[in-house]
Amino acid sequence: MIAVTCTAPVNIAVIKYWGKRDEKLILPINSSLSGTLNQNDMKTTTTVVASPDFDRDRIWLNGREEDIQSERIQRVLDEIRKRAGDRKEASKEKLSTYKVHIVTVNNFPTAAGLASSASGYCCLVYTLAQVFQVSGDISTIARVGSGSACRSIYGGWVAWDMGNEIDGSDSRARQVADEHHWKEMRVLVLVVNDKKKETSSTAGMQNSVETSKLIQERVKIVPGRMAQMEKSIADRDYETFGQLTMRDSDDFHAVCADTQPPIFYMNETSKRVVDIVKRYNRTCGKTSAAYTFDAGPNPVIYLLEEHVSPLLSILTHFFPSDEKNYVRNVPDVENVLKRELPK
Ligand code: DP6
Repeated sequence: MIAVTCTAPVNIAVIKYWGKRDEKLILPINSSLSGTLNQNDMKTTTTVVASPDFDRDRIWLNGREEDIQSERIQRVLDEIRKRAGDRKEASKEKLSTYKVHIVTVNNFPTAAGLASSASGYCCLVYTLAQVFQVSGDISTIARVGSGSACRSIYGGWVAWDMGNEIDGSDSRARQVADEHHWKEMRVLVLVVNDKKKETSSTAGMQNSVETSKLIQERVKIVPGRMAQMEKSIADRDYETFGQLTMRDSDDFHAVCADTQPPIFYMNETSKRVVDIVKRYNRTCGKTSAAYTFDAGPNPVIYLLEEHVSPLLSILTHFFPSDEKNYVRNVPDVENVLKRELPK
């Protein structure tokens, strides 16, 4: 029997992946780029036990047994077994015939637009790769589980190059800069709603590809934006980084609104946070905080360390956690800002 436990963190895209050119192989219509959070923050922990004595594969997610026959899990298991290497406990042939029991838990709400499929499939693939001694790039295997999962294979700043090959062999993750590169960078994940989202990313992006005209424009814009984003990270140029991040999030949600039927992931609270961030930046006289929203209402804010405390004070002023009717008057924002800004 072989048992391995691994953890994988979520990643939050600053250039969004939205739309597939191949649904089965999960090949995107545009490249994307994200930051991987620290191992100790939002993460998935997965244990894989492989044994010649198990009669079938099984999987438990957050304590409940799930359907192992799910197409994506099967694709991942097939790819891993095809590439299984040698292990001293088993010969190659035997190892790939071992059945697995998989236990996986998230330390944050699952399927609420908080990138759970990214850390989930990344962790599953990474752990299976350890068990089955798979070597070489495994981001292409994580990709067939869930597109965004391929970016969590690396820490720091990670691009997912869309690639050109029909078999998807060049559609994989590439580390742009490691986790030590931009030490002052912080990420605030604000949970305004931890319920399961109504429109999954998978279904939403499929509808966008079929019905949105705007998505075609976005596809033309992204290559230039990717290059600018990579440069802003290499130069630690927060102004450019922040502007690009907010612009790409806005464009992505505009594509969602242009989809038939329209998809609205952001809610009133999300919009209030956008407004506060915009006013914060105006009052600072430069870009100091950058919001981004995935397929859900929860704002994620990329900002440099010196702005964490002032921005958090402002956010908790307007959204105090101890009050039922917690939304205060946003027009106060300038007064609060004057009090809270770094001197
Ligand atoms: C809005 O990776 O969840 O978070 O490939 O169908 O599993 P599938 O989709 P998924 O989509 C993530 C979309 C996004 C943007 C991003 O992370 O780049």
